[in-house]
Amino acid sequence: MKTENLDKKLGIVGGGQLGKMLLSECNKMNISTSVLDPSEKSPCKSISDKFVLGDFNDFDTVYNFGKDCDIITFEIEHINVKALEALERDGKLVFPKPKTLKIIQDKNIQKSFFIDNKIPTSNFRFFKSISDLKKSFTLNEISFPCVWKKTKFGYDGFGVKILNSTEDINSLPDSEMIIEEVVPFDKELSVIVSRNSEGKVNCFETVEMEFNSKSNQVEFVISPANISEEANKEAKELAVKLAESLDLVGVLAVEMFLTKDKIYVNEIAPRPHNSGHFSIEACSSSQYQEHLRAIFNLDLGDTKHSGCAIMINLVGEEKHMGKVFYEGIESIFKIKSANLHIYGKEETRPNRKMGHVTIICDKFEEAYEKAKLIKQTIKVKSRTNG
Ligand SMILES: Nc1ncnc2c1ncn2[C@@H]1O[C@H](COP(=O)(O)OP(=O)(O)OP(=O)(O)O)[C@@H](O)[C@H]1O
Ligand SMILES: [Mg+2]
Repeated sequence: MKTENLDKKLGIVGGGQLGKMLLSECNKMNISTSVLDPSEKSPCKSISDKFVLGDFNDFDTVYNFGKDCDIITFEIEHINVKALEALERDGKLVFPKPKTLKIIQDKNIQKSFFIDNKIPTSNFRFFKSISDLKKSFTLNEISFPCVWKKTKFGYDGFGVKILNSTEDINSLPDSEMIIEEVVPFDKELSVIVSRNSEGKVNCFETVEMEFNSKSNQVEFVISPANISEEANKEAKELAVKLAESLDLVGVLAVEMFLTKDKIYVNEIAPRPHNSGHFSIEACSSSQYQEHLRAIFNLDLGDTKHSGCAIMINLVGEEKHMGKVFYEGIESIFKIKSANLHIYGKEETRPNRKMGHVTIICDKFEEAYEKAKLIKQTIKVKSRTNG
């Protein structure tokens, strides 16, 4: 039996690991689900009530998929927003709203939104082409070092590059871009905020993200961040302000830079996020639970937690491509406070997110020791190259 509120069919556009973890939460509450993904090998295929194979950038595919659902959400940003708008016009509940997604899809629009809403962010300029960018350098309007970002379709750091010389410009693709000032940050922070249709908001702890120096990908997410109470408050206030300015319904991840004197917002994502995975085991209401509560317009849950949680991303080793195996995975089960997640992707690639582990301990030092051990012990490889 479903409660009346939960008796709506949920359509999820995108069938990767975020979709998979959202489905686990749906399955707990017996919410009926349908997933759209272009891959036959989607990790969501076997755990959704209905799986639709198709391109989420194609208008008709997304529109027809949504027609069959009551509430439509997404776990990826680069999808056909016009189809979502058409579904909304037809009376479907699309959350987060298409207007919110539109702001995020283009980094130029997203940064302009921050400026318009007085959200502190690094200075930036928009360029249509590489030749325009070169002209600007010649005129000394911008200088090295600076950060290049593709306006659309960047993900996991692809589409972001620090430019130090003219040679770096020559290796860039010729597409629209923004150029940002380099922020001299001490830490990278993230806050996940949830907001329902009634405008109730809730924040998770501010977390700190530790990056791998070689791949520049997030290695550890530490909750709570080791920052001052003041910085913590400021980070959460920024997240809430953004959720409200965007008229968000769902969860929003707000990535920030902490510098000596202030916090800058780097970028936002209106969906469950890698920096919120720790909440599955650490919090009574996880980011997936919060997302469902928000889009089904239910009361929000308890997002606090005690002790320290560290999430370790399990990503594909360099030079390993093909059928995956997880070297040293048994060692996880010797660590009582470790929780393993394997996403179920058949094939690994360098730096591909293949799973994660969350450690929960009373003290940071203990959790960090274990996190480092896990990172050293578990290697995501392929048999063909390994
Ligand atoms: N203005 C900046 N100053 C300094 N470092 C930056 C700046 N912008 C981005 N970076 C660095 O590059 C990383 C990736 O940038 P960003 O988060 O904007 O892009 P992304 O492609 O969305 O990456 P991801 O999907 O991994 O979040 C940041 O986490 C940060 O380490
Ligand atoms: Mg980012």
